[in-house]
This record gives sequence, structure tokens and C-alpha cells, in this order.
Amino acid sequence: MNYNYDGDNMNKIKYFTYLNLITENKKIHDLKTYALENHVPIIQKESLDLIITIIKVSQSKKILEIGSAIGYSAINFALLNEKITVTTIERDEQMVKEAKQNIKSFNLEKQIHLISSDALLIDEHELGHEFDLIFIDAAKSQYQKFFEKYTKCLRKGGMVITDNILFHDLIFETDIKNRNTRQLVKKIKNYNEWLKNNHLFDTRFFNIGDGVSISIKK
Ligand SMILES: C[S@@+](CC[C@H](N)C(=O)[O-])C[C@H]1O[C@@H](n2cnc3c(N)ncnc32)[C@H](O)[C@@H]1O
Repeated sequence: MNYNYDGDNMNKIKYFTYLNLITENKKIHDLKTYALENHVPIIQKESLDLIITIIKVSQSKKILEIGSAIGYSAINFALLNEKITVTTIERDEQMVKEAKQNIKSFNLEKQIHLISSDALLIDEHELGHEFDLIFIDAAKSQYQKFFEKYTKCLRKGGMVITDNILFHDLIFETDIKNRNTRQLVKKIKNYNEWLKNNHLFDTRFFNIGDGVSISIKK
């Protein structure tokens, strides 16, 4: 991606990348580079920018994340303000190991509570929090289950942010050969419809990154 302003070759994505370019903390930059080079799935920059702005505007302090991977998004959230605490859940042991090391290297052990478990196996009442914000970024086939389970711990007026609701634009494909992918796409479409019709939440859908929804608890 060319980050310089180039009037002749600009398109919408390049232009916003250029406008939003900031000098990144070197350690964050290295962590992102490591993730990209090692095919660790982490949040796209546009989606992260949006969530960071929302956290700042809403002054969210208690955050729950489903799907930590190596801790990249949780670390970004925690670095915003030392009063922010992030509870983040990850089921893959190797990811947990790396996330732990990364959280330690950023000295964020007091702010980030990493839980090594399948998010669907935890007793959500034991998390002991009324969260301000829940970020769903784990197995796409289980989005609705995560949402139903964890919104019990979300305060009124709090929000759920779900990433990848376009699933790399596959939700627009009409001829998906792979059966598992087809089923996954169906699940995501159903989740989006379910959110749209869930009157306990006010949900808006955004064409940012791989698609992001924001659901505010009424
Ligand atoms: C897209 S990655 C998370 C990226 C991370 N939020 C970031 O942006 O830095 C999704 C992660 O969710 C984890 N995951 C998937 N299903 C899960 C589940 N049921 N419980 C806990 N973790 C899960 C995967 O192992 C994977 O590491």
C-alpha cells in the first residue's frame, strides 16, 4: 500500500489510509508486522481506528473481547487509557502463550485479563463485570451464541461490536463451491439478519474493513 499522497493514483481506500496514517508506537508496529508475516488473523486498521474512536468517545472502561489471538487488539485498547481493563478470551493454546508474552512485554498484565478457554464454556456470570463494550472477533459460526451469552454481562447503553460481518465479501457470492464455506456464509448472513431484527438492541452496520456492526443495548 502506498501511504504517500499521490493525486493521480488515489482511490477511496488509499486516500483514507493516507489521511489516517499516524506514527505508530514501534512495538505495536512490530507486533502487527509479526502477525501479518505469520498469518495470525488480526483486526484491520480501519476497523481498529473505528473501535478506538468509539472507546474514546463513549469513555468505555470495561471491555470484553471474544477472540484474543496474540493480543494485538486487546493491547491497542488497553494502551488508550490506564483505567481501561480488557478481559479477553482465547481457546487456542499457542495463541494464549504468545498473547501472554506480548501482554507482559507491554507491561499490561494489570489491565488485560487473558482467559484461556473456549468462550462458550465459560460461566459468564463469573466474569464479575458489567461491561461497557464487548468485541466479538472469534469463530464466525458462533457469533449469535457469543452475543446471546455475553450480553447478559453488558450494561444498558453498552455496546457490542462485531467484526467481519462481510466475511471477505463472500456473503455476496452466489456460487460458493466449498460446503463448509457456504454454511459459514449462511450463518453470518443469518446473524446479520438476526441483529437487524433484534429489538433489544439498536444496531447499525458499517462498510468498514471487513464489515463491522455496532449494537447498543436499549
Ligand atoms: C480474528 S482472531 C482474533 C484477533 C484479535 N481480536 C485481534 O484483532 O488482535 C480470532 C481468534 O478467536 C479464537 N477463537 C475462535 N473461536 C473461539 C472460541 N469459541 N472461544 C475462544 N476463542 C476463539 C481463535 O483461536 C483466534 O485466535
